[in-house]
Order: sequence, then C-alpha cells, then structure tokens
Amino acid sequence: MYEDRIRRPALMNKLTSAADAALLFKDGMTVGMSGFTRAGDAKALPMALVERARQAPLHLTLLTGASLGNDSDGLMANAGVVARRMPFQADAALRRKINTGEVMFIDQHLSETAEQLRSGDLKAVDIAVIEAVAITADGSIIPTMSVGNTANFVQQAKQVIVEINLSAPLALEGFHDIYVPGERPHREAIPLLTPWQRIGATAIRVQPERIAAIVITDSPDSPSNALPPDEETDAIARHVIRFLDAEVKAGRMDPTLRPLQAGIGTIANAVLHGLIDSPFRDMTMYSEVLQDSAIELLDSGQLKMASASSITLSAAMHEKFIANIEQYRERVVLRPQEISNHPEIVRRLGIIALNTALEFDIYGNVNSTHVGGTHMMNGIGGSGDFARNGQLSIFVSKSVAKDGAISSVVPFAAHVDHTEHDVDVLVTEWGLADLRGLAPRERAPLIIEHCAHPDYRPQLRAYFEEAKLGGGQTPHVLEQALSWHARYKREGSMLVK
Ligand code: COA
Repeated sequence: MYEDRIRRPALMNKLTSAADAALLFKDGMTVGMSGFTRAGDAKALPMALVERARQAPLHLTLLTGASLGNDSDGLMANAGVVARRMPFQADAALRRKINTGEVMFIDQHLSETAEQLRSGDLKAVDIAVIEAVAITADGSIIPTMSVGNTANFVQQAKQVIVEINLSAPLALEGFHDIYVPGERPHREAIPLLTPWQRIGATAIRVQPERIAAIVITDSPDSPSNALPPDEETDAIARHVIRFLDAEVKAGRMDPTLRPLQAGIGTIANAVLHGLIDSPFRDMTMYSEVLQDSAIELLDSGQLKMASASSITLSAAMHEKFIANIEQYRERVVLRPQEISNHPEIVRRLGIIALNTALEFDIYGNVNSTHVGGTHMMNGIGGSGDFARNGQLSIFVSKSVAKDGAISSVVPFAAHVDHTEHDVDVLVTEWGLADLRGLAPRERAPLIIEHCAHPDYRPQLRAYFEEAKLGGGQTPHVLEQALSWHARYKREGSMLVK
C-alpha cells in the first residue's frame, strides 16, 4: 500500500495518524507549514493541533508560504494555537484575532521570510508540516499545488511531518523547480534568465531520518474565492490593455510584452481575464499565484508559459487542470516563493506588476493592507516584491467601496505599503493615470480626474487647491489629510453631504 507515494521502504514505519503526529508539538514551538493562497496546505495536522490544544496549552508561532485553505487559519486561531503568524493570511476569523491584538501578525514581503530564516533573524523552525504528492526513493519530498517556503522550512526544521495527499495526482511530479540560494554574502547570482528556465530539482531534498511522521490525507485544496469579473473590472481591464497597447506602439516593448505578475483576489484575476480580448500574443507570466485567468490565457494560447509559486483555482478550473495536466507540464513551473518573487529576477526580467490597492492617495501612495489605516485585511503579500522591482508597477482598484461610502482615492493614504516611488500607473474603472516622470503636483490632477469617482472629484479638487496654498513639493493640509477616514468612521460615509 502507498508504494507509489512512499518510494523509500524504510519510511513506511513512519506512517501514523494526524493525532499522534500532533503529539510532537510543544507549547512555544515555531512551526513552518506548506500552503500558499489556499494551495498545497497541510489538511490534517491543523485540525489535529486544534484537538490537541483542547487537552493542553499549545501556542505556536506559525509560518507558511501565504494563506491557508480549509479555514485552517481561523480554526487554529480560535483554538488559541496561533500566537504569532507570518508572513500572510486571508482568513476572516484570524483577521479578527489579529485586529483585536490576540494574534501577533508580522506582515512581510513574501520573498523575505526565507531570507530572514536563513540569516537567523527569525527563530528557527522546530517542525515543518509539508503536504506532498510523494516521497521519492532518496527521501526527497514532491510538493503538491504550491511550493511557497516549504523547501526552506524543510531545510531548517529539526523534524519534518509529511502529509501525503492522495487527491494530488502523481502527475504533478515534474512541475516543481526547487532552487535554494546559498548563504550571504558570497552567494552566486541566481542563474535564471528567462521565466521558463528550470534551475533546480523537481523535489525537496531532506535527510530521511528527519522525517518524523507521515500522515495520509485525501482532500482537495479549498477552491479559490475570487469572484467573477463584473462591469467595473472589465472597464479596468480595458484601460490596462489600452495602456499596454500604447507601450507596444511607442516601441517600449513588443506584443509579447514583458513577463506578467498579477496579484491575488477578484480584481487582479478579472483584469488578467480581460487580456483574453487583447492583441498580445506569446506572453509569459512570472508571478507568485496562478488563478483561473492564467489557465484561461494558457488555454487560449496567448500565454506561452507561466511560472509561479502556487496554483489556486476554482473547483471547475481545478478539475479541468488536473484532467488535462499533461498539456500544462511543459508550460507551468512552480518555484519557491523567494525565487518567484526575487527582487534580483523581477528587476532582471522587467516584470509588469499588476496589483490591487485598497486605496491610493492623490500623489500615488498605495495602501494594500490596512482598512481605515488600522485594521489588517490580508497583508502585503508579494505586491511589494514586484512593485518596487518591476519595470512597470500598475495598481488597480475600484474607485469606491461599500456602495460608494468609501472613496478609494483619498487625500492621504491612511497606511502606505507602496510609496509613490514604487508606483507607475494607477487604474480604476473610470480611467488610468500614468505617473511616470511626473512630480507630485502634476500627479494629483491626473489621479483625481482620471481615477476618482465623479462624486468625490469636487472634494478632492478642493483639498488639492487648499493644500497648494500651504506650499511644498507634496502639498497637504495636515489637519484634514485623514479627515475622510475619520468622517467615514463618524458618519458612515466619506462623502460630504
Ligand atoms: N476601504 C475599506 N474596504 C475596502 C476598500 C477601502 N478603501 N477597498 C476595498 N475594500 C473592501 C471591499 O469592499 C471588499 O470587502 P468585502 O470582502 O467585505 O466585500 C474587500 O475589501 C475586497 O475588495 P475587492 O474589491 O473584492 O478586491 P480584491 O478581492 O481584489 O482584494 C485586496 C483587494 C487589496 C484586499 C487584495 O488584492 C489584497 O489583499 N492585496 C494585498 C496583497 C497583494 O497585493 N498580493 C499581491 C501579490 S499576490
């Protein structure tokens, strides 16, 4: 039994239940779990840890690639298992615990966690919990639908627990390209010159004696929760396509564009979906997550290949992907997130970075994470890795949220994840502001007239005019800069009645 999944016979005696594997955990440990935007996360151990916490206190520092599926983050947070969490999450229950201060959340650039672990800046991982397709004869671990930080956790952990997921097809073997950079300061350049190049191994090496337990599961990843495109996301996509078309016509790039990165969530997925109706051909992706839209573009032929750290699909698209997996074998590469998001590579390849903002201000500072400036939404994820280092950094957002009560274009971003220096282009359903080469005083009118919702333009114009009276390179009326957020809290709308 399981010979095709556990190909090193000596490891068969490590087969155990999730409940028994959970006994290896001790209060205060640092745990690294596989999983990246609901893909490739361990399915059984999180639940076993919740059970274990009912018997004895268990407060862990939990590191992952990015967000987990199966409500694991929320269930573990509610059970008190998660005391400290990094580098990303997207779970409503965990978000509540973070915003009440019960869970300490460290919101990190996704390329940096592995680097900080390697440098000893973070406490070393005690136990790694890794979902796998199989363990090879030499004891290497073949990941499932994501790689994330898994290779780094495995490298560092004293003990490794492997969850073999029978629902992950053996055909996934070969999709991964595991390359782990060396120690600094004498590290060699990462030898990746094109998005499709393979520079590493197809599985994660581990000394088999560190595999402490093997647990069998058989449940699929949670499906993506991105919503379908709508009129506004279609309009955003049209603006982005027109802009990129103009870049091609101006001779700054050819119709294959530059490798594309697209952020998580409904809007980025919908914008990428819009590229189906674009004139661009033979495009490539060098991104961190592939959503449904990436598979659609691969199927339409417009996308030649896609490189990422995870594949997060709707249930229907997942079924289609698995059924036709051989078609994607040569065209999809899954890498560790420190490689998919590496600043060195993002800069070298000239990535077009397309990420979503919660809000941005009239000078181009972007808030991607903090609702109202205080409350964590999901985290910065990889947006900063790509936005700062890409050739073109585009941020998209709907112009209003909460039925118009919130303007996404504000006088002053209440929290800044991407400073004006990292932002080239802003887009809403109303239009696009190309900020390249413009000073703050030139950017503001463009952002107000092209991106803001018409209902909010008079208020924004008035703010800018008053701010200019006080002078400055980046004029502000400091007493009023955050008054829009305060008004929303007080009156339930940013709009002046
Ligand atoms: N203030 C308060 N809430 C806002 C808001 C604002 N300015 N703008 C949007 N929202 C709310 C929406 O109303 C929606 O709320 P709901 O879930 O209650 O309906 C929620 O934020 C999500 O917005 P939506 O318009 O559906 O966009 P999305 O699914 O594309 O997500 C982000 C947008 C910004 C939350 C998401 O892209 C994100 O977490 N980004 C940061 C990480 C990242 O960029 N990673 C990229 C590399 S993968």
